[in-house]
Formats: sequence, C-alpha cells, structure tokens
Amino acid sequence: MGIRRVFIIVLDSFGCGALPDASAYGDEGSDTLRSVTLSKCFRAPFLTSLGLFNIFGNREKSVPAAIPVGAYGRAAERSAGKDTTTGHWEIAGLVSKKPMPTYPDGFPEELIQKIEKETGVGILCNKPYSGTEVIKDYGREHIVTGKPIVYTSADSVFQVAAHEDVMPLEKLYEYCKKVRALLVGENAVGRVIARPFKGEYPNYERTPYRHDYSVAPPEPTLLDYLKSSGFDVIGVGKIGDIFAMSGLTESIPTHGNEEGMKAAFEAAGRNFTGLCFVNLVDFDSLYGHRNNSDGYAKAISEFDAWLGDFLKKLNDDDLLLITADHGCDPATSSTDHSREYVPIIAYGAKVCPCDLGTRTTYADIGKTVADIFSVENDLAGESFAGLLGCETLYGELAQKAIEMRKMSYSPYSGFRVGAALLTREGKVYGGCNIENSAYPATCCAERTAFYKALSEGKRNFSALAIAGGKEPGDASELASYCAPCGTCRQVIREFCGGNFRIISVKSKNDYKIYTLDELLPFSFGPDDLG
Ligand code: THU
Repeated sequence: MGIRRVFIIVLDSFGCGALPDASAYGDEGSDTLRSVTLSKCFRAPFLTSLGLFNIFGNREKSVPAAIPVGAYGRAAERSAGKDTTTGHWEIAGLVSKKPMPTYPDGFPEELIQKIEKETGVGILCNKPYSGTEVIKDYGREHIVTGKPIVYTSADSVFQVAAHEDVMPLEKLYEYCKKVRALLVGENAVGRVIARPFKGEYPNYERTPYRHDYSVAPPEPTLLDYLKSSGFDVIGVGKIGDIFAMSGLTESIPTHGNEEGMKAAFEAAGRNFTGLCFVNLVDFDSLYGHRNNSDGYAKAISEFDAWLGDFLKKLNDDDLLLITADHGCDPATSSTDHSREYVPIIAYGAKVCPCDLGTRTTYADIGKTVADIFSVENDLAGESFAGLLGCETLYGELAQKAIEMRKMSYSPYSGFRVGAALLTREGKVYGGCNIENSAYPATCCAERTAFYKALSEGKRNFSALAIAGGKEPGDASELASYCAPCGTCRQVIREFCGGNFRIISVKSKNDYKIYTLDELLPFSFGPDDLG
C-alpha cells in the first residue's frame, strides 16, 4: 500500500457498545460512546467526519457523516477480560485466552511467604482496598514496622504502598522488581504497582512517583515483529509499560492526554519508518472510572480539536488508526471497565473511505499493520488492508473495468469504455458506454455504473475504475489511460467526497490513481446549495 508510518491512537476506554457476552462481565447495556455523546459537552466534528457515527451500531447515537472521509468499523474483543493490558495486546495481535489473575480474597498465603522470604520483609493488609483508604488504615502500622502495604483491586494488580521516609523510592522500586520476578505462571499478575506516599497521619498523600511493572506479553506481538524487521516502534504514554518494553525501539512516557497528544504531534513531525503507538489515558482514569460523563465528553472534544491539527500533519504515505482498548461507561453505576466493542477509524491519503464492518477481534488492527508493512507474522486476526485500498483491491477493480469494455455499445465512435464502481460495503457495479444515433443521448460508462448502483439504492462509494480506448472489446491492455469526461466528474461530485478515488486503467497492473479533488478542483456540489 506504500505506507511508511502508521499511527495507532488508543482512546483509553472509548468503547462503543456492549459486546454480546457483556452480561458475563456484569456489563449488559454498557455503551461508553452513547453516554459520552449524550453530554452537552460533546463536540467531535473531526471524528464525525472520519466516520465515527457511520460505524454499524453507532448510527443512532449521533448524525452520521454524509460522506465520511475515513474508513470505519468496530471490533469485538476475543480475549477473556476487559483490562487495559489485554485490550492493547489484542490490538497488537495477541489474544489472551485466560483472564489475568485477580485476587478478591487477597494473594495466597504460599505466595506471600515466598515474597517475604525473597525480600526479607513481611507485609501488611493483603486485601482488595481503595488506594487512599489503605494508607489511612495501615499507614501508621507501616511506619512502625517498616512492612510495605500490599493490596489489590478488581483488576489484576499487586500494589505496594510505602511511605517515602520509611521506604525510599529506590528501595520501593527494588522491592517491586523482586515481586514482579516472583509473579509468574498462574500468578502472572498484570501489573505490580509501586504507590509511594508522604505526610503525617491522617493527612497522608500519594506522591506522583507511582511506577508500574507490567507482565511481558507471553508471545510476540506486532511490536516485536516490526522491531525485529528493522522498523521503528515508538510507544507514547503507557504503551512502554503495557508491553513491558518488548518490541519498542523508543518509549515516551507521559502524564495524561495533553502530554500524550503533544508527544504524538512531535512524533508526526519526525522522520521515522514504522509504528507510533499512542495511549491517551485520561478518558479512562480521570472520567470513566469516576463516572464523569461531562468530563469524558470534554476530553473527547479536546482530543477532537487536536485531531484537526494532527490530520494536517500527516504525510501522503501515513496511516492513522483510532481505536480503544475496552469500555468504561461513565453513566452506569459501575466504576469499572466495561466489555464493549471498540471503534476502528482509519484515515490517510491512501485510504479508501469504506465500511470495515464488525470485526471479530481487535487483533485485526495489528494484523492489518503487519500486512501493510509486509512483515511475516503469527498474529491473530484478519487484515483489512485490502478494504483500506491496497493495490490488490484496485487491481481487481481495474480488471473489472477492462472486462466491462466488452459490453460497450459504441458503433459511432468505436471508443469502448468500461467502468467499475466500488461501494463502501465492498460491492462492485460495472458499466459501459452506450451510444445513440442522436449523439447527445450517449451515456458514458461511469454514469452507467453510477446509475445502476444509485437506482438500487446505493449512495456510498469509495472508488471507480475506468478503462477506455479503441482496442477490441477483449483487449487486456490499452494504449492509454482514459480520463472521465466533465459531465461524469460532476455526477461523481454529487455523491462522493474529495478523496473519492478514480482509477484510470491501462491494464490490471497498470493504472493511475487520482482523487476527485485532483480531477475537479474548486468544484460546485450539493453542499453549495445549503
Ligand atoms: N466515454 C465514456 O464512456 N467515458 C469517458 O470517460 C469518456 C468518454 C464514452 C462516451 C462515448 O461513447 C465515447 O466514449 C467517445 O466519447
């Protein structure tokens, strides 16, 4: 497809509707996108124009774009679970069959004994707990005994709280690394988290020096395949942590969305070849978990405004993919993640706006990126690179246009034209020119194809191939590229956006790709009539 850089931006927790098995997770009816769009603070013109509300299942949530400029779809999570790590690993092509272990009754005694032996210090608490409550309830004992406070949550986490004066940061980090090394096999907890705090009882305060030690992916992910094939793999935000640095060539940790967007913007200004994988965390941590729909909507609106500038930064050989790692519906009583579909939006100069449909796994994203970079891999999922408009798709469309020339009725000019029109659902309508002894009544091949599709109710198109020349009807190769006439260009303009692709064909393997904007600049269209 000739893509040099791919940007995957994960809007953390921006799910778009409950999965069929959501009830098994207590998430029936969860729909993060719907809850966020209902807020008066929601404003997302760029996401909308890319196709967010053209996605199947999202259409009723807001007004779909008449002519989306991106490719759009949604994906189900195939992994067992709904946490950040599982979601990101699946995006990167790794499906987790077993959920990461959680400990609603605390960690098993045997494991704790092993940790105490290895670290030479006892522990306190060992229960699921709120992070602020746990230091209030155990802080004083911790200060007296020097034992770290170990607690967990509904997530697969082993959290260690320690006062900075009792256990200096370096010692706490050292302790967490030792624990990380011990948490393997069935106890391969998603994250070990260092939670330092300071101050005097009862005003203990957590400090910003939290540090996460994630479990490494058990099998190679997209990131590993890209890195070992010599591509750059830049992680922004939590990505480095989530993949335990496996497969990254560079990690840019951030605090929150603002820094994340800034880092992604800077990366877009750099000259690299490969993947920039960005996680924007605030949607989840600041708003989803805190059931703050307005805050969530505001954060999406801020992202959308940033996106407008970011799109302008992209080169012709860049591909942008926007998605999410799970849901976290701010309007349900649950403050936990929710088991949801995630949106997939793809945009780029080389991307054919089309409907990617409902994908059965987030892994289709990773598989697609591996496919685009022609990297051999063992990832799960199915590539949708073909739908995005890779050469093979245009090649097939070109071939169809060549075949349609056979049908041409052109006794007066002897100029045979065939056309093939691709709808956004992936259906192809063929057409040929049909002449008439009263010359002006002639219909061109392109319009024949359009009128066939339009009269069957189709309105959304992504590409049109044209093959024309005086060669016999069964010719597989033509002498020149045929350009659409002015009238046809205007008809195309009626139904298609500026990045609609027009493929001028000499043969199945020899064609030129134009956008409608290139062939009909400064045009007049239905939007001009208001
Ligand atoms: N024609 C097309 O069908 N499409 C084009 O883009 C150019 C022209 C037809 C119309 C007519 O039958 C013949 O080619 C010569 O103009």
